[in-house]
Amino acid sequence: MKARKAKEHELDLIYSIGFDAWSSGLSLEEYLVGCRKSKKYSAGTWYVLVEKDEIVSSLIVYKSMFNLKEGCFGIGSVATFRELRQNGYASRLINLVKSELFGSLNCKALYLHSDIDRQFYSRLGFVSIQGSDCMIYSNGQVDCDGSLPTYF
Ligand SMILES: CC(C)(COP(=O)(O)OP(=O)(O)OC[C@H]1O[C@@H](n2cnc3c(N)ncnc32)[C@H](O)[C@@H]1OP(=O)(O)O)[C@@H](O)C(=O)NCCC(=O)NCCS
Repeated sequence: MKARKAKEHELDLIYSIGFDAWSSGLSLEEYLVGCRKSKKYSAGTWYVLVEKDEIVSSLIVYKSMFNLKEGCFGIGSVATFRELRQNGYASRLINLVKSELFGSLNCKALYLHSDIDRQFYSRLGFVSIQGSDCMIYSNGQVDCDGSLPTYF
């Protein structure tokens, strides 16, 4: 199993992973059109988890936007194909991306906005920031001065 950056031709497949959660009643084609036009989706870096040559999970990484400070990153749109959930894939992908960001990309703090029960992210080391839906994983180098990234 490995995590890597997504390739351009994989984007439709990646968008389709979250279809059941985020399509709000749209058809798959309508949903994909929206994803392809999304400025936020084009501005981030998509990562995938690959198991036996197949993509199983994906997430997007943001930096230098959404009020993320220098050295701070955000992750979002974490999703696993519905039939493959509960196999530890999303947890594995988050941990691998975390290692890359803190290891070679000088990340000081990683943020996310949780749409689901925070326990999932707490188990991966993220801590809730009081009074917000935001959670942070940090190596202690960042001062939390109360200014939070906007929703992504
Ligand atoms: C959340 C999600 C990414 C987890 O993917 P996964 O590959 O099954 O994750 P893992 O196998 O590593 O972990 C499974 C855990 O996710 C938790 N989980 C899944 N959906 C959840 C939800 N809606 N609320 C809270 N926890 C959830 C489960 O409780 C499970 O923990 P358990 O084994 O103790 O029951 C997947 O369910 C998904 O794609 N959901 C739709 C998109 C989404 O809502 N993404 C989160 C955006 S913040």
